[in-house]
Amino acid sequence: MSIGVLTWVFTAGGHAWKHGRNQKGRASIPGPRGLPVFGSLLSLSGGLAHRTLASMASTLGATQLMAFSLGSTPVVVSSDPHIAREILTSPHFADRPIKQSAKMLMFSRAIGFAPNGTYWRLLRRIASSHLFAPKRIAAHEPGRQLDCATMLQGIINEQSQNGVVLLRKHLQAASLNNIMGSVFGKRYNVAHESQELQELREMVKEGFELLGAFNFSDHLPWLSYFYDPFSINQRYAALVPHVKSLVSGIIEEHRIRESDKVSDNADFVDVLLSLDGDEKLQEDDMIAVLWEMIFRGTDTIALLTEWVMAELVMNPDIQAELQRELDNLVGDKGVTDADVLNLPYLQSVIKETLRIHPPGPLLSWARLSTSDVQLSNNMLIPAHTTAMVNMWAITHDPMVWEDPLVFKPERFMEKAGGENVDVRGNDLRLAPFGAGRRVCPGKNLGTVTVSLWVAKLIQHFQWVPNPEKAVDFSEVLKLSCEMKNPLSVIAVRRNVLPF
Ligand code: HEM
Repeated sequence: MSIGVLTWVFTAGGHAWKHGRNQKGRASIPGPRGLPVFGSLLSLSGGLAHRTLASMASTLGATQLMAFSLGSTPVVVSSDPHIAREILTSPHFADRPIKQSAKMLMFSRAIGFAPNGTYWRLLRRIASSHLFAPKRIAAHEPGRQLDCATMLQGIINEQSQNGVVLLRKHLQAASLNNIMGSVFGKRYNVAHESQELQELREMVKEGFELLGAFNFSDHLPWLSYFYDPFSINQRYAALVPHVKSLVSGIIEEHRIRESDKVSDNADFVDVLLSLDGDEKLQEDDMIAVLWEMIFRGTDTIALLTEWVMAELVMNPDIQAELQRELDNLVGDKGVTDADVLNLPYLQSVIKETLRIHPPGPLLSWARLSTSDVQLSNNMLIPAHTTAMVNMWAITHDPMVWEDPLVFKPERFMEKAGGENVDVRGNDLRLAPFGAGRRVCPGKNLGTVTVSLWVAKLIQHFQWVPNPEKAVDFSEVLKLSCEMKNPLSVIAVRRNVLPF
């Protein structure tokens, strides 16, 4: 007992870092001791972990790299763009620690959690050359336009019925339908909710809750034998057969009407079914890959658009500038993907939102080292360490960004003396989609959808604060970081242009 206590007292990073694990390099990795057994688990399990970690790192002078313990799991977090790049782009960090929830939801065979190896490389190849190939993203534009038009009509209806609009439910319906269209080739009538749509919504919601829940047993495995407060295991057991039956039913429908030639606008099921030889996937693997796309695509697009709109409501000058850009460059016609590429202010507004409200402030899913990794600052991260990048801390660091708390799209406008920063993983000062071999494969689809929808929301409406419900920028961290209180606003029609 006394040896245990002494070890804990002298171990920076807590007991998962005992035996000098944090001192293997020429410089040791600083970090909080936390509590015996639990480490920093209790301080990070509830609330806003990105903010807590940022303030711990700054208090301990450990922004480059900080070691801490989540129960028995040794973890490092970097809040520094240079060290973050070394971690994310290192071939020894191409694995992810797989949580119990992801395993139970079959995600160990999906792109996000499959270990670095032949199978994962195959999935990434399929993703880049088939699912997210530029020509396929372009061919799905009519679907994006259709879902947006339905959303705009829904907004008009709600505004005239209630005098205000709760934007979130429109965005969620549009993004679920949009991703269902791209992945399964299926769209639902959101105005008249069918039983199938209701079930699907429930399944997605349940999956989000389970995946996003902080499960103590991931870090204290012995706890699962007597502590399961949210009946997590039972809930998985109920959800997984539903998911399998829904997705395999859809795959079967596609098999029956199989065509030999897969067109550019084919959905993901048709694409996967058309693969042959080395690329052919087993049915269970297809289910895992397809279901993961629904998860990853739906909430990120909806919540990022909600953050953008909240910023535009609170910054009327920026909203007006965006409307001027749209009026000058697009005029009276409907906005298209091609127009969006030529709207630098719109791109800057999206980038600035990704900077202030990165949807994955800790880049959502951590990485795992497969061998010792030597860093340029002389610290060494031992094998089997979980690593996180605190993207939120980097994008709010005054040493990296001038006036980091101010929403200022001009910082990205070259014409206004700003810098056209690439957000796709090449510049770690702003890498909301991660970087390196595990960078988000859906980044182009995500940005193209959010940009088009914001452009259309702004082209057709003037967005005004609801005097009875102030815009509240409080966050809640689930699977992604979203607005704690949904945005409630007034939408004033600007024109009578068709959607
Ligand atoms: C605003 C939209 C989005 C954001 C901010 C976002 C962010 C991220 C981040 C931070 C990662 C981890 C990257 C890393 O470890 O370096 C990731 C991974 C991933 N994302 Fe996205 N994402 C978005 C949209 C999408 C969409 C639309 C899809 C698919 C339909 C998608 C599918 C995935 C997958 C499959 C992975 C795992 C990649 C792997 O481990 O190899 N994401 N995303």
